[in-house]
Amino acid sequence: MNNYRIALLPGDGIGTEVLEAAWPVLQTVAKQHDFSLEGVWLPWSCEYYRSHGKMMPADGVEQLKGFDAIYLGAVGLPDRVPDHISLRELLLAIRQGLDLSVNARPHRLLAGVPGPLRSSIPFDILCIRENTEGEYSGAGGRVHRGGDLEVAVETSIFTRAGVERVLRYSFEQARQRSGRLASVTKSNAQRHSMVFWDEMTDRVAADYPDVEVTRYHVDAIAARMITAPETLDVVVASNLFGDILTDIGAAIQGGLGFAASANINPTGGVPGMFEPVHGSAPDIMGKGLANPLATLWAGALMLEHLGESAAAADLMDAIEAVTVTGAGTPDMGGTLSTGELARQIQAVLGR
Ligand code: NAD
Ligand code: IPM
Ligand code: MN
Repeated sequence: MNNYRIALLPGDGIGTEVLEAAWPVLQTVAKQHDFSLEGVWLPWSCEYYRSHGKMMPADGVEQLKGFDAIYLGAVGLPDRVPDHISLRELLLAIRQGLDLSVNARPHRLLAGVPGPLRSSIPFDILCIRENTEGEYSGAGGRVHRGGDLEVAVETSIFTRAGVERVLRYSFEQARQRSGRLASVTKSNAQRHSMVFWDEMTDRVAADYPDVEVTRYHVDAIAARMITAPETLDVVVASNLFGDILTDIGAAIQGGLGFAASANINPTGGVPGMFEPVHGSAPDIMGKGLANPLATLWAGALMLEHLGESAAAADLMDAIEAVTVTGAGTPDMGGTLSTGELARQIQAVLGR
């Protein structure tokens, strides 16, 4: 029997609530598919920062390498620790430290979920965001602090290797799906990085003659995701553009409570990290209001990545067997708590 060791990083706010609700559901599906999930809870969070002066131990990324996957809730409590410290020292440190260069985020409507769009045409988008460099490189600085001449510089770094690997992964996905790839830039305004991205797209496209590439400027595709999402399939974008587009993707699929995310290193050898797209939602934390579906869906992405495709499919089916009934948390127009919704899904699996 396969046993997978999973690092459980609940983090902060509703991150803890959704992970604690989702984990038993994953245990149930594992049992039914004759494998086991051994979870190790790691308390790295803003709370941890207050007692240790850092978000995770100095060898945190090394510790994570010993696991088969990482399952994360959400990080950040800006009232306690500034976001640029908590996120850069934990979430972004893991993405960059494990070189999780691909962040894949599926956007579609689950059965029975109406979504906010007027059109009822189904859509199925896979957004792939570059996940380790670009606008999130962290390079830059401040000079003349506090003075009239103060300057803040945030340098976006796009390397050939970094752009090529995320493009290649996206072309592969497009090949396995509809054969269509949308490449997102802002090359009408950003004349270095984004023109480079376009050139790299041309180069990689030469190896995928069966994939049809359409280029979009990020502003135009942002609108298209709302007005005609059914015209899109695989969408590849830089780190920041992908971040923004995937909150739009979340919105059109019913809200942030639905959108799931797989951070992976396509070369393998390190664990992937699976998490909801949303954050720690301090505005609703501690009330049982958080929607656990994004985290459960991320759990399905994790099982799929571990090679347990049948279990992943069963989990998605169980999620949709419940959403189709109209049951849900308040953000879905329902009355269930985080735990109640997760337990309904677990009960479907147990039937
Ligand atoms: P957020 O995603 O936490 O919340 C945005 C809005 O969506 C809030 O109104 C919230 O109540 C709602 N929401 C989010 N998830 C929900 C869910 N599962 N169910 C129901 N409603 C949900 O974004 P924010 O408010 O900008 O950020 C809050 C904190 O989280 C900040 O510290 C931010 O940096 C951090 N953050 C972390 C991650 C992460 O860990 N991956 C992602 C985004 C934001
Ligand atoms: C996400 C989040 C993070 C990001 C933040 C919290 C740093 O918004 O995972 O989408 O921008 O990547
Ligand atoms: Mn985001």
